[in-house]
Amino acid sequence: MKAIAVLTSGGDSPGMNAGIRATVRTALTSGLSVFGIRRGYQGLIEDDMIPLKSTDVSNILQRGGTILHSARSEEFRTSGGRIKAAENLKSRGIEGLVIFGGDGSFRGANDLQLEHSIRVVGAPATIDNDIWGSDFTIGFDTAVNTALEAIDKVRDTAAAHDRLFIVEVMGRYAGFIALEVGIGAGAEEILIPETVTDIPTICRKLTERYKGGRTSSILVVAEGDEAGNAYEIAEKIEKHSGIKSHVTILGHVQRGGNPTAADRMLATKLGYGAVKALLDDAAPCMVGVQNGVINRHPLADAWTRKKDLDKLLVQLGSGLE
Ligand code: F6P
Repeated sequence: MKAIAVLTSGGDSPGMNAGIRATVRTALTSGLSVFGIRRGYQGLIEDDMIPLKSTDVSNILQRGGTILHSARSEEFRTSGGRIKAAENLKSRGIEGLVIFGGDGSFRGANDLQLEHSIRVVGAPATIDNDIWGSDFTIGFDTAVNTALEAIDKVRDTAAAHDRLFIVEVMGRYAGFIALEVGIGAGAEEILIPETVTDIPTICRKLTERYKGGRTSSILVVAEGDEAGNAYEIAEKIEKHSGIKSHVTILGHVQRGGNPTAADRMLATKLGYGAVKALLDDAAPCMVGVQNGVINRHPLADAWTRKKDLDKLLVQLGSGLE
């Protein structure tokens, strides 16, 4: 193998730049040349790629976002799109591809490998942390800390005005962010898609707490909760109990900002691990870090195996009064 390429795909996550840097520098010191593909698979289809040297990835480690930009490409879901992508890689002699992204991005990589024999390695990068095979995904820790800082501020005004706030955090299909943020912020209730949201019970507990002397409350809700988004939950609570609330949607603020130390370490390990997997001829695979160790898994594990929430955290999230 003489040349590889790297791209970032799907929702960006803080730490992607650290991952790109580790990929590029590991490849260069291993004697490979490296190309950076801009705008994920869409850029690959449009042949938007540049050779990267070591200095091109200087001073990016600490920055959020991704210098390569990201996209969700509809065209890459088609076999025609993947034919163009493979042609662009092959015309430059690129045999291996490192993808920073989530399970959707890994599915695309798998198709590219099956149809065109491009060696692919996935490195899990999404703030949602919902990928099996890695204890954490790149960006999760930063997103949790960003949300936590915001909710601490909401707590101040909630307490000052004796109000109920419903704070929505990201997580379309999973409650990892909501659970950790909820526990870290001392939220009175944490609403996640993995557990049943029972509005009458929530209302009863809120009322009991008010009777017991509590004057303000924070509810943290994952955007993918089955009972609805924060506005819908607010409406249901008011309808059921008459308790009014204020809604705060943290949204994309959670995707930005300088990555935490934990995300920089994780991304550096995964970038390094991805290149080593290509050099060891272990692709296709996904690299993950479990108990501090870099592991390799079949790519399909990313979408066929479900990562469970930490059971103790679930218990603590609903039990500390
Ligand atoms: O990357 C994951 C994520 O941030 C989810 O938590 C969220 O639902 C989604 O992406 C938002 O995607 P977009 O920025 O494309 O609207």
